[in-house]
Amino acid sequence: MSVLVTGAAGFIGFHTSAALLARGETVIGIDNLNPYYAVSLKEARLAELTPRRGFAFQHLDVAERGAMTALVQQHPEIDRIVHLAAQAGVRHSLVDPHAYVRANIEGQLEILEACRRLPRLAHLVFASSSSVYGGNTKLPFAITDPVDTPQSLYAASKKADELMSYCYAHLYRLPSTGLRFFTVYGPWGRPDMAAWLFTEAILKGEPIRIFNNGKMRRDFTYIDDIVAGVLAALDRPPPDPGKEPPYRLYNLGNHRSEELKRFIAVLEAAIGRKAVMEFAPLQPGDVPATYADIVDSTRDLGFMPTTSIDEGVPRFVDWYRRYHGL
Ligand SMILES: NC(=O)c1ccc[n+]([C@@H]2O[C@H](COP(=O)([O-])OP(=O)(O)OC[C@H]3O[C@@H](n4cnc5c(N)ncnc54)[C@H](O)[C@@H]3O)[C@@H](O)[C@H]2O)c1
Repeated sequence: MSVLVTGAAGFIGFHTSAALLARGETVIGIDNLNPYYAVSLKEARLAELTPRRGFAFQHLDVAERGAMTALVQQHPEIDRIVHLAAQAGVRHSLVDPHAYVRANIEGQLEILEACRRLPRLAHLVFASSSSVYGGNTKLPFAITDPVDTPQSLYAASKKADELMSYCYAHLYRLPSTGLRFFTVYGPWGRPDMAAWLFTEAILKGEPIRIFNNGKMRRDFTYIDDIVAGVLAALDRPPPDPGKEPPYRLYNLGNHRSEELKRFIAVLEAAIGRKAVMEFAPLQPGDVPATYADIVDSTRDLGFMPTTSIDEGVPRFVDWYRRYHGL
């Protein structure tokens, strides 16, 4: 396979690229290395990938008009795309909404247009998010549930990605699979997410802010389980029987909704220090609980997450210490 991975310097893109290379695929990784969080972390991830056989990197903005179509003209051999580049983060979408429309919506359109120009393209897999379930209160969140109540522009942009991809699957029979990821954590994770923020604060003896006064539940999903799901999806382009578009959506979550306080207790044990907790109300844009129904993903993709937070959190803390030389 010749796979284009967008957002290859990002958390999930880095691990996905590494897993593809490990099984002998050719990977063209692209990323614009934007400064949403430390560029040094993105460069450090790339430094792990670039020496590996089969990997090539291009510094490129997916949302730049025509940049993707130019890239695929140079690489007509690409037969799979894993599109992970995005402006991530729910809370930041209240601060810089334009970044979300540009990277996530214009970027998705550029990817879809590039797909049309690839003669051998067998499958586009793209990142969606559990945040599309928005104000839904029925748990677990199932693919068949309505998703018309986004609570943030980030969520709305991911829902838009799903609709745009469905439309291209319908118009151009482009086989596409959207993956709704649920709170991914693990080594090389993101500095704007709970595992990193809490670990950093606990190690410094600084308070951590717990929103919704501690009444938060998240389906924390370990990165290796996510990558297994991404590869399983990539290997299974939706069939095209001719009537329905070749388009599928799946939840990739651990299928365990953990109390945030339990997640913190596991972190405290792994770090060997107690957290100083400050309670705060639910933040605008946030939702109180996530929980993935993975019946479809297990049936169609063989997706079966195996990593509990008791196993995954200490692995993150070990990596965090090594990365920071602590
Ligand atoms: N990590 C999670 O818990 C989670 C949950 C749900 C959905 N997602 C989605 O999964 C995907 C990957 O997330 P992640 O956690 O690895 O985030 P990340 O921010 O670590 O990775 C995204 C990468 O995309 C790059 N990028 C952003 N805009 C770009 C552009 N216009 N052109 C080229 N590159 C660009 C960034 O520089 C970054 O390296 C994203 O689409 C995100 O929305 C992640």
